[in-house]
Amino acid sequence: MAGMIPRPFIDDLLVRVDIVDLIDSHLPLKKSGSNYTARCPFHTEKTPSFAVTRSKQLFHCFGCGAGGNAISFLMDFSHLSFVEAIEDLASFVGIEVPRESSTATFKKSTATTSFKVLEQAASFYVEQLRNNPEAKDAVDYLKNRGVSGEVAQEFHIGFAPNSWDSLNKQFKTQELINAGLAIAKESGGAYDRFRGRVVFPIRDRRGRVTGFGGRVLDDSLPKYLNSPETDVFHKGKEVYGLYELLSSNAKPDRILVVEGYMDVIALAQFGLNYSVAALGTATSKDHLELLFRFSSEIVLCFDGDKAGREASWRAVSAAFPCLRDGRQIKIMQLPEGVDPDNLIREIGLENFEQKISESQALSDYFFERLSLGLNLSDIEGRAALINKAKSYLEKLPNGIFQELMQNKLKVLSKVETLDIIKQSTENNTRNRHTKGQADTKLSIIRLTISLLLQNPELVEIIEDKNINWALINLPGVDLLKKIVEIITTNPNVSLPCLLEYFRNTDQEKHIKIMMNHEFYISGAEVKEEFSGAIDRLIRQGTDNRLTQLIDKSRESGLNVQQQKELSTLLAGQK
Ligand code: UTP
Ligand code: MN
Repeated sequence: MAGMIPRPFIDDLLVRVDIVDLIDSHLPLKKSGSNYTARCPFHTEKTPSFAVTRSKQLFHCFGCGAGGNAISFLMDFSHLSFVEAIEDLASFVGIEVPRESSTATFKKSTATTSFKVLEQAASFYVEQLRNNPEAKDAVDYLKNRGVSGEVAQEFHIGFAPNSWDSLNKQFKTQELINAGLAIAKESGGAYDRFRGRVVFPIRDRRGRVTGFGGRVLDDSLPKYLNSPETDVFHKGKEVYGLYELLSSNAKPDRILVVEGYMDVIALAQFGLNYSVAALGTATSKDHLELLFRFSSEIVLCFDGDKAGREASWRAVSAAFPCLRDGRQIKIMQLPEGVDPDNLIREIGLENFEQKISESQALSDYFFERLSLGLNLSDIEGRAALINKAKSYLEKLPNGIFQELMQNKLKVLSKVETLDIIKQSTENNTRNRHTKGQADTKLSIIRLTISLLLQNPELVEIIEDKNINWALINLPGVDLLKKIVEIITTNPNVSLPCLLEYFRNTDQEKHIKIMMNHEFYISGAEVKEEFSGAIDRLIRQGTDNRLTQLIDKSRESGLNVQQQKELSTLLAGQK
């Protein structure tokens, strides 16, 4: 049976989550000064007075006074109980909620400690670069590469001494291992991961150090060493330089994505302060979604070599599902053997920016690359182009851009009547339906209600299951019952009509939100999803009621009716 959620876990959860990310996943936010704003979900308004502050990790509505932390947001927005909100939040950051039995106590999770250790290590490395005589080679190296003291300071560049235990001497070994700063030895103990390297701290959007990259000073290998995946460091989700970028420019017109740490630094050195680098991994859809939150234009500017060209194509392929109307990706191809670092040194900021503005539109790049080796003057070539393009175009969100891309394909393939992406809605939804996305973030009761509101015919399934409502003890179940009642008595009720039943009630705003909740499941999957949701609802509800009755029997005893209920429930548990 569920025990108490340990307090330290809740604290830790709030440290891990970013309220801006969280709220943005429920209700798109716009950056405005140091805040993020939206039209308030808790009252009806025309102009946004709902503000989320990253530095405080709080939200507040100046119109209606709603406000609180990430947990309060979920409780209010998703109509959740405290425990449900914690569970939602935990699944949002991808961790399990531990339960405290009377004897076991929860060991504080590592994230909070890791942030602290990483921060202190970063300061230590910076201090080493400044004051340790052994850092002379590193200082010379940076000078030779044209890195000024100012830029070194902005990026907190540091030096990891060439020793096995410079961190190990001052921190707890296990904490260093958890933070990715030390490597455990089989014989026990551990040694420093970064030795004799210039180190670049990687900071998350809240400015917290999550990991490091470290470069050798000579030609030895590996040239760069990166922190491993840890509790707080996720390569596939973070980019290097974003914190620094947003600190100097909260609303960049565009963001330039480059390959290397040194590219970002060299560009900053020359006054170009809107570049970021993926951390030695392919640019992912998550990376791009993240960047699109801060700018509507992303320019890919990878090295002019085979690897760079491959990386561009991979990034473009990953980008298709993100390309909603209004977002733009461009490709800046560099000459063979050139990277952004040496290009800006050679031609300077102005010419470099001129080249950025001449970058290729994604549509041109895409069709050019796809047509490579195809002869579009014969039928086979054009058919091959259609086949290759189809799967990409289907991934585009529905919209003008998708239509224009389709038109371009029609022109290139000379097939005017082509309806390549006829089934795009279904394909889109299937592609986007991955575990952990929006639908799983809804509480079970909200999921059920949302599905039912949007597919009233599902009421059949509820009728079939012959539910004993009295046994389901969950917040929101009355609302569900009411909706079932309305649909049963008005089988053809439409959404706007349904909404009328709730006008001026407390539930109105929740109903609206649930009506508009976007599901990424296809028509065929709806029934199954709903049936599963109902089953879980019944289970969760009876579990809750059972706990309640057991507690009550212990505290004050049960009356006859409650005893009957308890034995019915217990009988159903087997
Ligand atoms: P590059 O070798 O192009 O880096 O690798 P760079 O920044 O241009 O290197 P220098 O300092 O100017 O010579 C691009 C990125 O790939 C990752 C790093 O993130 C690097 O910045 N990488 C590269 C590694 O993770 N490990 C390596 O051994 C090399
Ligand atoms: Mn490079």
